[in-house]
Amino acid sequence: MQVIIAQPDHSKWAEEICQLLEEAAKVKGTGIAKRSHTYIVKKINEGKAIIALSNENEVAGFCYIETWDHGKYVANSGLIVSTKFRNLGLAKRIKETAFELSREKYPQAKLFGITTSSAVLKINTQLGYRPVIFTDLTIDDAFWKGCESCKNYDILTRTNRNLCLCTGMLYDPQEKEQKQKNESIEDEEKSRISV
Ligand SMILES: CC(C)(COP(=O)(O)OP(=O)(O)OC[C@H]1O[C@@H](n2cnc3c(N)ncnc32)[C@H](O)[C@@H]1OP(=O)(O)O)[C@@H](O)C(=O)NCCC(=O)NCCS
Repeated sequence: MQVIIAQPDHSKWAEEICQLLEEAAKVKGTGIAKRSHTYIVKKINEGKAIIALSNENEVAGFCYIETWDHGKYVANSGLIVSTKFRNLGLAKRIKETAFELSREKYPQAKLFGITTSSAVLKINTQLGYRPVIFTDLTIDDAFWKGCESCKNYDILTRTNRNLCLCTGMLYDPQEKEQKQKNESIEDEEKSRISV
C-alpha cells in the first residue's frame, strides 16, 4: 500500500473517489458533505490531495487540503477509506501525510477540521489537534457553504454556526510553539533549582 501526494494522472480515480464519499455518506447518514468530480480533480491537479493506492493499483483512500480566510486556516477534508481497507491504520497514514503537507505548504496557518467520526477524533488528537467550539474556526463563508449538502445543515443555520453535530478540532502552530517555549523555560528552571 502506498500513501502519496496525488499526481495529475491520478485524476482518473476522481469518479471512484466521489462514489466512495457518496456511499459512505449514505451509510453514515450524516457528517459527510458531497464533493463534485470537478472539485476532486482540481484538488489533485493543485497537488493538494493525498491518495492511497493498493498493491493491485486500486484506490484505497483519499483526502485533500484546502485553505480558508486567505490562508489563515487550512482544513484537511474529504477523508475516505474504502470499506475493504478499513481498520488497517490507513486513515491514520493519510491524515499524517495531509498534516505534513499542510504544515510544509502553510507553516503559519491554523489546521482545523470538523467531524462526527470517532476514528478521526482519535487521529486528530494524536496529531496534536484539540477540540474547540466552532467560533474558534474559520469565519470564511465558503467553508461553511460546504456543509449545505449535509442533512444536518438546518442545525448549523439555526445556531448561527455556533453548534452542530460535528466536533471542531484545531491545531494552532503558534500555540504549540509557545507551549514548547514555556516547557523549556520550566525545564531550565527545574534544573537550576536542583543544582
Ligand atoms: C473514518 C475512516 C476514514 C477511518 O478509516 P480507517 O482506515 O479504518 O481508520 P484507521 O484504521 O486509520 O484507524 C485510526 C484509529 O481510529 C480507530 N478507529 C477506526 N475506526 C473506528 C471507529 N469506527 N470507531 C472508533 N474508532 C475507530 C482505530 O482503532 C485507530 O486507533 P489507534 O490509532 O488507536 O489504532 C473510515 O471508516 C471511513 O472512510 N469512513 C467513512 C467516511 C468518513 O466517515 N470520513 C470521515 C469524515 S470526517
